[in-house]
Amino acid sequence: MALYSEKVMDHFRNPRNAGVIENADGIGEVGNARCGDIMKIYLKIENDIITDAKFETFGCGSAIASSSMATELIKGKPVSEALTLTNQAVAQALDGLPAHKLHCSVLAEEAIKKALQDYYEKKGMKL
Ligand code: FES
Ligand code: FES
Repeated sequence: MALYSEKVMDHFRNPRNAGVIENADGIGEVGNARCGDIMKIYLKIENDIITDAKFETFGCGSAIASSSMATELIKGKPVSEALTLTNQAVAQALDGLPAHKLHCSVLAEEAIKKALQDYYEKKGMKL
């Protein structure tokens, strides 16, 4: 079996939602000190629905594929649902990641949570 699923390769080669959202309603940046990868997630939120999500990821292929899949998974979803997105769900949607690459999907979960936290803080609310 190949180390990476076709879905991982597809999202690595053709990342969905790469880029920046100007005047984003929530921004979350996280990094992994061990590998040095950095992931930044931008969210546009209207009436508590995530209408757009974009990412900038400086990192490995799995981190790029995880960002791409994670932004796809939360687009069009209510904030409450995006808050429950786990790294396992991201990895599963990619048809799995090698064990030593699971931390790449953790970055995606953390970056989204941080962006949502930022959204709430900007609104003067607590998560
Ligand atoms: Fe970890 Fe990306 S720096 S492989
Ligand atoms: Fe660190 Fe992929 S190797 S996020």
